[in-house]
Amino acid sequence: MSRPQVLPFAKQFFVNPKEVGSLIPSSRRLAEVMLSGIDFGNTNIIVEYGPGTGAFTCALLDRLPLKTLYFGVESNKGFQDHLKARFPTITIIPDYAENIFKYIDQKHAEKADLVISGLPFSLMAWDTIKITLNETYRLLRNEGEFRTFIYNHSFYFPKCKKLITELRNQYKIVKIHQIFKNFPPAKIIVCTK
Ligand SMILES: C[S@@+](CC[C@H](N)C(=O)[O-])C[C@H]1O[C@@H](n2cnc3c(N)ncnc32)[C@H](O)[C@@H]1O
Repeated sequence: MSRPQVLPFAKQFFVNPKEVGSLIPSSRRLAEVMLSGIDFGNTNIIVEYGPGTGAFTCALLDRLPLKTLYFGVESNKGFQDHLKARFPTITIIPDYAENIFKYIDQKHAEKADLVISGLPFSLMAWDTIKITLNETYRLLRNEGEFRTFIYNHSFYFPKCKKLITELRNQYKIVKIHQIFKNFPPAKIIVCTK
């Protein structure tokens, strides 16, 4: 499995480990499962939190119909610059995911069909997680999906258990998929509103 973005990713990790949360980007396998089963033809707005160097973005753009709007929300300046150079046509919002609603709501009457997250929830403050989850739920249309992942080693941390409980309270359906072909192995959580 090739991971051509490893060096630029690792560089940002060493600058800000808590914000980046991983030494290397997600694997192709994680990206594949993250996007599996989505009817992209029926999407109008897709939002990605924390695209990093674009592990999911790259796979997403391959599948995106022309009519679908993509918004990447990335807080790290190094990654913002990297994404703009790698995918010159996409919209990158230079802000924190918890502030997403103001960007989408101001410009678009419609709600999002899909929110994909690469956020390092296990390292984030609970208050920030809670605001991000509430804003995400508000942003999604009915039947829309929120997809995120948590590394196996942090899945049973109290904060992550609380996160799963919160998601189960908010969403109609919450499914968890184990991915071993990633470093570190991770669980993908798919939530349907
Ligand atoms: C674990 S990396 C995932 C990167 C990429 N999605 C992947 O899977 O390879 C976490 C990403 O979230 C970004 N990030 C962390 N906190 C954020 C926040 N509150 N809002 C937006 N981006 C954030 C980091 O800068 C980094 O790009």
